[in-house]
Amino acid sequence: MKIIVLNGSPKGELSVTLQYVRFAARKFPDHTFEIFHVAQTIRKLEKDEKAFNDILEAVKKADAVLWSFPLYFLLVCSQYKRFIELIFEKEQEAAFAGKYTASLSTSIHFFDHTAHNYIHSICDDLGMKYLGAYSPAMYDLMKRPERTRWLGFMGLFLDAVTRRAPAAPAYPPLAAQKFVYEPGQVKSIADAAGKKILIMKDGQTPSGNIDAMVGTLAANFNGPVEVVNLMDIDIKGGCLGCCKCGLDNVCEYDGKDGYKDFYNEKVKKADVVVFAGAIFDRYLSSRWKTYFDRSFFNTHTPTLIGKQIAFVISGPLGQIPNLRQILTAYGEFQEANLAFIITDESGDSGKIDALLAELAGSLVHPAAQNYAPPMNFLGVGGRKIFRDEVYGMLRFVFQADHHYYKTHGLYDFPQKNYKARRMNAFMMLMTKIPSVRKKFLKILKEQMVKPVKFIAENK
Ligand SMILES: Cc1cc2nc3c(=O)[nH]c(=O)nc-3n(C[C@H](O)[C@H](O)[C@H](O)COP(=O)(O)O)c2cc1C
Repeated sequence: MKIIVLNGSPKGELSVTLQYVRFAARKFPDHTFEIFHVAQTIRKLEKDEKAFNDILEAVKKADAVLWSFPLYFLLVCSQYKRFIELIFEKEQEAAFAGKYTASLSTSIHFFDHTAHNYIHSICDDLGMKYLGAYSPAMYDLMKRPERTRWLGFMGLFLDAVTRRAPAAPAYPPLAAQKFVYEPGQVKSIADAAGKKILIMKDGQTPSGNIDAMVGTLAANFNGPVEVVNLMDIDIKGGCLGCCKCGLDNVCEYDGKDGYKDFYNEKVKKADVVVFAGAIFDRYLSSRWKTYFDRSFFNTHTPTLIGKQIAFVISGPLGQIPNLRQILTAYGEFQEANLAFIITDESGDSGKIDALLAELAGSLVHPAAQNYAPPMNFLGVGGRKIFRDEVYGMLRFVFQADHHYYKTHGLYDFPQKNYKARRMNAFMMLMTKIPSVRKKFLKILKEQMVKPVKFIAENK
């Protein structure tokens, strides 16, 4: 059988993920694996029709397609995202329709599920037969049991393709939205009170109702608002994955484009940051993805702590819960307050006006000053993954993170909690005594609430 591998790493042949493919190719010599470095060569693929068509022709002749990519900012990298956009822009879905497919990524397991959900949904949109996701940690291939596991996945995949097994789509097609938002009267009563307000909007077309929604939001503030079109920022390209930033946040693009200065001068210094964009396929535009990927020069540290942020979206977000989760998680790991996610899905201009006015007011409300809610599973879980990785394998590459984690108390490993350790040791011993055990179980509920009840009633 012939398998087309769409390599989504900007590092091309130097991709770690690609080594899993090379390994599988050696172990399954009866099948051929043809690799296209689509992320690395995206500039060429955008301009050179023949180069793009060569990939389509190969896909048409193949028995299956393997999406092989690194995790970048909870998804695939911007260059791979752009490749996916090109397929739809050029209306080339037919080349992929009916093909068997699977996705492979390597990562540190930080939102790997949202990236695979995304690729699965894209495969469904393309009419492909998606058979599964494989998401090992970056260096799992070094371990014998993990190699066996990977070959197990590939064995099952190749067998299912050979048998022409049925595949179940998981994501229904998105219902198209044709609504045109017409802004009403704006009262401009949200008092910015000297706060720096930055609204970034998507310049990639079609941008749906974004310009009009941003216009209304900006007009709701009583004071200066900076609106920046992402297309006007000097961004030479997507993140290259070189990880030069790891030591001291130096970026390969330093001195070559204006992204980092923009981020440091405008984004970091703003009190309120609004991200506005239209939905492209099952995410925002690849331009937005480039913005997020390039912010990786800050590596694994939050840069929007205590800021009030919001997303203003044009398009069917309600049909893409995966994207809502990505946006929510972004607010959490930035330690910001994600005040609102507003969309134009209601199809009612009056309601959108009211929501945008409410958003403006809440972003500058005095009670919102440095407010950020406690994190939920997305933020807490993500932070623990970062903590363990930066403390462990990533430390010598990401020295800037290590310094930040050390100085900001993020190395909060439970083994350092000596009070809890003493209590656990004592109580585990005591509860071995039957009479104590019986009493312990009887008063457990009461004891659990006791310290918090004391605070609630006395502080
Ligand atoms: C810009 C950037 C963003 C990343 N984002 C994530 C992420 O969101 N989740 C994750 O688990 N790993 C993330 N990683 C780690 C890579 O996914 C990981 O190193 C991967 O193995 C690289 O594969 P490759 O060598 O095939 O490109 C990121 C790395 C870079 C450079």
